[in-house]
Amino acid sequence: MSPPVVLIIGCGIAGPVLGNFFKRKGYHPIVFEKVPELGDAGASLMLMSNGLKVLNLVGLADALKTESTPLQEFWDASQSGKVLGRSDLPSTFNDRYYQPAVGVRRTTVSIKLKQMLLDMDVDVREGWELIDIQENEDSVTAFFDGGRSVTGSFLVGCDGIKAVSRRILLRNQGISEGPPTYTGLTQTAGISETPEALRQTSAMRNWYGDGVHVISYPVGPNHTSWAVTQRETKEKEETWRPYRPDEIPEQRQQLSSLLKGWDPAILQMVNSSERIIKFGLFDREELKPEQWYSRRCVLVGDAAHPTSPHLGQGANQAMEDCFHLSHSMPFLVPGSGQYEENLQILGKNLSQEIFRPFAEKRQPRTSLLVKGARTQGDKRVASGVEACRQRDSDIATAYTDPAAMLARFDSLLPEPFQTL
Ligand SMILES: Cc1cc2nc3c(=O)[nH]c(=O)nc-3n(C[C@H](O)[C@H](O)[C@H](O)COP(=O)(O)OP(=O)(O)OC[C@H]3O[C@@H](n4cnc5c(N)ncnc54)[C@H](O)[C@@H]3O)c2cc1C
Ligand SMILES: *[C@@H]1O[C@H](CO)[C@@H](O)[C@H](O)[C@H]1NC(C)=O
Ligand SMILES: *[C@@H]1O[C@H](CO)[C@@H](O)[C@H](O)[C@H]1NC(C)=O
Ligand SMILES: *[C@@H]1O[C@H](CO)[C@@H](O)[C@H](O)[C@H]1NC(C)=O
Repeated sequence: MSPPVVLIIGCGIAGPVLGNFFKRKGYHPIVFEKVPELGDAGASLMLMSNGLKVLNLVGLADALKTESTPLQEFWDASQSGKVLGRSDLPSTFNDRYYQPAVGVRRTTVSIKLKQMLLDMDVDVREGWELIDIQENEDSVTAFFDGGRSVTGSFLVGCDGIKAVSRRILLRNQGISEGPPTYTGLTQTAGISETPEALRQTSAMRNWYGDGVHVISYPVGPNHTSWAVTQRETKEKEETWRPYRPDEIPEQRQQLSSLLKGWDPAILQMVNSSERIIKFGLFDREELKPEQWYSRRCVLVGDAAHPTSPHLGQGANQAMEDCFHLSHSMPFLVPGSGQYEENLQILGKNLSQEIFRPFAEKRQPRTSLLVKGARTQGDKRVASGVEACRQRDSDIATAYTDPAAMLARFDSLLPEPFQTL
């Protein structure tokens, strides 16, 4: 008997990780990606211990760590570079949580994930854009652009913040959801050669100004990823995109004047980055757990709980989702005693047996993190002298309580399983 086909929509972070897990459990995953050819993707990601543990299960953690340098320090300063606080807590992550935190280029992650699928003979179909879903009692058909369709046992929506899978699931529950919610903040980002002044330590650095925040972390031995966050209205949304080479000089000019008087290391990075990309930061209202799934479909990652990036947990939580969903699905080893029994679980009651407990486990945690990220963004980009003074003082105070800092990470990073 041929193994059940799993339709995985999206080859971002969650899609390929699930492709790996399902293949190894004896299923037949097919990963559909709307982009004609995967590769060049945005700026960077901070992979934390929780996400790296999952990437280690698919065999990629070591390769990604070798590309970059694990984080040793948190470092926060005022705009001019006057230190508000620093901590070497990240240098203990590997011992405490079995993996460090490490910044990586998104393109690197994207290429390695796709190659991993090809190496294990998983069917990856680029240039397939999901447009509709039809569910039956114990099967599901996905419809793609160009009049194509594929039927499988069940479907996992890993198609990100603008997920079509989510829109269809909600539509079938009688809910019409608008576009993602703009959080009022934009980021302008680049990757630059690491300035001399930042080379000493591999640190996640934050600089705080009035209405502006800058973050940076290394994504390789010689390169640093940086992003400038500002409060902006949506009026100029059409200008939020990767800039063409001929537009970069003007963007450098604008950023340099915005950041006049800031730490020279920042200006140096702005002045020398390979590319500059600008985007708005969006999230969505939370869904209830029962809105994460239908009879034959379940949402994972940003499709279920898109977040603004201020806690650096979007991709890491997507990977926790993958672990838990995969963990709750039965192994299908032909010839083994439980094969038939396990297949039964994929039958008519799949949503109650598997999807519902998955959603009930994951929704509360991700909901808190989405709200936390939004609050964190608002706090970081404080405006006005008094608000900025208060923020800077709060940050400095937080560093005086290492036990509280540690407790925060202790609630976040030991997941999704407590061993190596
Ligand atoms: C500026 C920024 C910085 C971030 N920094 C971090 C960070 O430091 N750490 C962190 O953990 N997270 C970070 N995140 C969040 C992280 O990028 C996301 O949470 C993560 O990528 C979610 O993974 P995913 O697989 O759910 O979705 P995605 O990675 O968005 O993948 C979705 C995929 O589905 C495809 N797709 C979409 N629609 C369709 C369709 N109809 N048919 C077929 N395919 C489709 C897309 O092309 C894409 O490849 C950041 C996000 C932003 C915006
Ligand atoms: C980083 O820079 C050093 C010194 O300039 C060089 O020897 C090394 O090859 C560089 N590494 C990478 C990955 O570019
Ligand atoms: C930015 O680059 C220009 C020329 O490339 C140089 O003249 C200027 O001093 C640089 N500014 C900073 C802050 O590095
Ligand atoms: C479906 O699964 C749920 C949860 O395991 C269980 O409570 C319920 O009785 C099952 N329904 C049927 C018809 O088997």
